[in-house]
Amino acid sequence: MMPEQTHTLSIDTLVAVIGAGAMGAGIAQVAAQAGHPVKLYDNREGAAAQAIDTMAAQLNKLVARGKLTAEQRDAVLSRITPVDDIEALVDAKLVIEAIIENLDVKRSVLATLEDVCSDDCILASNTSSLSITSLAAGRRYPGRIVGMHFFNPAPIMKLVEVVSGLATDSNAASTVYDTALNWGKKPVHTRSTPGFIVNRVARPFYAESLRLLQEQASDCATLDALMRDAGGFRMGAFELTDLIGHDVNYAVTCSVFTAYYGDFRFQPSLIQKELVDAGYLGRKASRGFYHYGEATEQPLALTVTVSSDTPSGCVALGDVGLLSVLVQRLAQAGISVDQESASDAGVLRIGTATVALTDGRLACQRALEEGLTNLVLIDLALDYNQASRLAISRAHNTSTDAVQQVVDCLAQAGIQVSELTDVPGLAVMRTVCMLANEGADAVLQGVGDAIGVDTAMCFGVNYPRGPLRWADQIGLAKVDQLLTCLQAVYGEDRYRPSLLIRRLALQGGRFHD
Ligand code: NAI
Repeated sequence: MMPEQTHTLSIDTLVAVIGAGAMGAGIAQVAAQAGHPVKLYDNREGAAAQAIDTMAAQLNKLVARGKLTAEQRDAVLSRITPVDDIEALVDAKLVIEAIIENLDVKRSVLATLEDVCSDDCILASNTSSLSITSLAAGRRYPGRIVGMHFFNPAPIMKLVEVVSGLATDSNAASTVYDTALNWGKKPVHTRSTPGFIVNRVARPFYAESLRLLQEQASDCATLDALMRDAGGFRMGAFELTDLIGHDVNYAVTCSVFTAYYGDFRFQPSLIQKELVDAGYLGRKASRGFYHYGEATEQPLALTVTVSSDTPSGCVALGDVGLLSVLVQRLAQAGISVDQESASDAGVLRIGTATVALTDGRLACQRALEEGLTNLVLIDLALDYNQASRLAISRAHNTSTDAVQQVVDCLAQAGIQVSELTDVPGLAVMRTVCMLANEGADAVLQGVGDAIGVDTAMCFGVNYPRGPLRWADQIGLAKVDQLLTCLQAVYGEDRYRPSLLIRRLALQGGRFHD
């Protein structure tokens, strides 16, 4: 058993960081900024001192930009001591290792620390993919081994995943959680499962765009623009994976896919594999989905041209749900808007077009099943009041005139339109529903709670809204229906709804109050 822990580390407690690479240096800076004395150790001689020099140069830039005072910089740097000998960590009460991502090497460092540090010292690992349970196995006090997963760059990114393995003592996890909180971070508790929360729940963000590209729904620039301009994400999947590096992103997907015994929800993409095979690793290789280089112009999103015709009016038939915000925006833009009750309720009529929010069916399928003429499906937006672009798709028998009337009407309200081929669930909607589906399974399996999942995705990967809160807003019955339609139309297990979404949908429940 591990000795009793307090839940807070006093500010004069020595924190040790092992590994003076990108993450270790950043974590040392965070601990020192919070006021702790910090020892930074790396087994490459001089590496720790060099990392502190680099940190000083970065802090100098912050001082020059007025973001930090010279006194604050000096205080941070004075608290960090570089050491080249692991024995120097003897007085630490919290050690965070951020060394090479290798199970055997990390285990051997933990074994050494058992002999160096006192028995009540917490041994935390910044691993992003290794099992905390495995790291702790065979140690004298496995209860004190806990994951403390920072995100890159550690001084800026708020999220810290506090990862408990099978043997992790709840006091150790609570101490790490409270410490991260005191350091100004947003900690979330999670269990040691593949990908923890973020690297698991984020997979569909990449996977759905890759799938849409593979199915020639549109091109990279258009799909990226939709995720930004309609979805409110900072970047689309193609520009983001170009930035992360396809070798890194593809490897994470493969490792999660393998770790979940080949669950098709995590299936890697052949399109991304091909980039890796070609060495087109993204920005660092000057080529990924996009080309980079001084003279290279980035491609523009495909946008349907607006006509010179006067925009048609809009009739909202029955309760149009999320689209009611769009209807208000059209009215504010001077479009004549009427409300009517009708048998095909829940749709808009714009000119000769019938406009409906995607429910996961193909446009051609829905047109046939509901006997709708000139059906135009519309994608989800984070906020229909703010969106500057929306995706639409049309049924096989929808006229070009009807599509044009929708485009002209939306243009009047400042909304550009990108038309996708007839794919089910369009782009933003299916991505958000799949993110929520994965988040729901993480909650169902006790990997985190709903607040933890949403916090992790907002502060670990900057999502504009937690996927579970977003699913609440869409309505869990609709999310369930959309996933069920995708599962049916593709005939694939990948889109099976989480039991928790199904259960909450049937109960009329929500993830958040
Ligand atoms: P890095 O390669 O930049 O730095 C690793 C440092 O550890 C090197 O300076 C190396 O000399 C040192 N090192 C290696 N073996 C050592 C040993 N036995 N004893 C002492 N020092 C040793 O790596 P990076 O990117 O900083 O990653 C470190 C850890 O953080 C890994 O576990 C990684 O999975 C995790 N991580 C990385 C993130 C990233 O975006 N780079 C994000 C979150 C976690």
